[in-house]
Amino acid sequence: MTDKKVALVTGAAGGIGTEVCRLFLKNGYKVIATHRPGKEKTEVANNWLREEKLDGDIQLLALDVSDHQAVREALPAALEELGRIDVLVNNAGITRDTTFKKMEWDQWHQVMQTNLDSLFSVTQPIFNKMCDQGSGRIINISSVNGLKGQYGQVNYSTAKAGMIGFTKALAAEGARFNVCVNAVAPGYTATPMVTAIREDVLDSIKATIPLKRLATTEEVAGAVLYLAGETGGYITGETLSVNGGLYMQ
Ligand code: CAA
Repeated sequence: MTDKKVALVTGAAGGIGTEVCRLFLKNGYKVIATHRPGKEKTEVANNWLREEKLDGDIQLLALDVSDHQAVREALPAALEELGRIDVLVNNAGITRDTTFKKMEWDQWHQVMQTNLDSLFSVTQPIFNKMCDQGSGRIINISSVNGLKGQYGQVNYSTAKAGMIGFTKALAAEGARFNVCVNAVAPGYTATPMVTAIREDVLDSIKATIPLKRLATTEEVAGAVLYLAGETGGYITGETLSVNGGLYMQ
């Protein structure tokens, strides 16, 4: 069993998840980086590992977080092998943007399965283990759009708002086991998900951000590291916004 702190990060092949893994590794964690199964995703994850030359401190795990059965088959074995788990970052998420008038059931349902149902499938076995250990940190990557509501994202805003309710309720249950549960709500961050927005639409969004720029993935990952670390230990049930002032509560 490792004497390092162990963090599992979902949706690690690209964007915020990758940066969170990188920062955890830099700070002495052992990291389990999960990514969507499939050739392309596995290649992205492997290339990333090769480039970073991170050797034994990181382990890749192909995991479709939207597939309840698959998660419940793969996770217990991984947890058994690790021996302990200190941090879970629920980061995996997708968008299927369109106006509600035109939204198809699939566009609604896929977002719910990946962004919301996965919280049940992935978190429950890990939460139970953390409760047995008497310690743990769970950090859910929500979104500014779950707080403010975004045109063209009724599905995504619903799921990301749901993550915040999940965070608070689980924080209430986890406290007596010394398991802290928080959310990070990034604003528009320089990731493939955001750069895929049509240029004119993205320009008009940027114009509404008081800091007039996108967040860097490092700025979001820094918030996650803080909530996972020693000095974040008295925070639970909170949502930490990293949004350049786009939405001030
Ligand atoms: N508020 C009010 N009206 C708006 C609006 C807004 N924010 N955005 C667009 N409209 C209006 C437009 O002005 C337009 O009006 P007219 O027909 O009168 O000209 C109408 O709505 C249609 O707009 P579009 O031309 O954009 O419609 P479309 O069907 O081509 O595209 C869309 C719809 C795909 C949803 C597109 O608007 C879009 O991509 N919006 C951005 C959605 C977004 O922010 N996604 C975030 C992805 S990143 C992410 O999710 C990460 C994170 O956590 C932050």
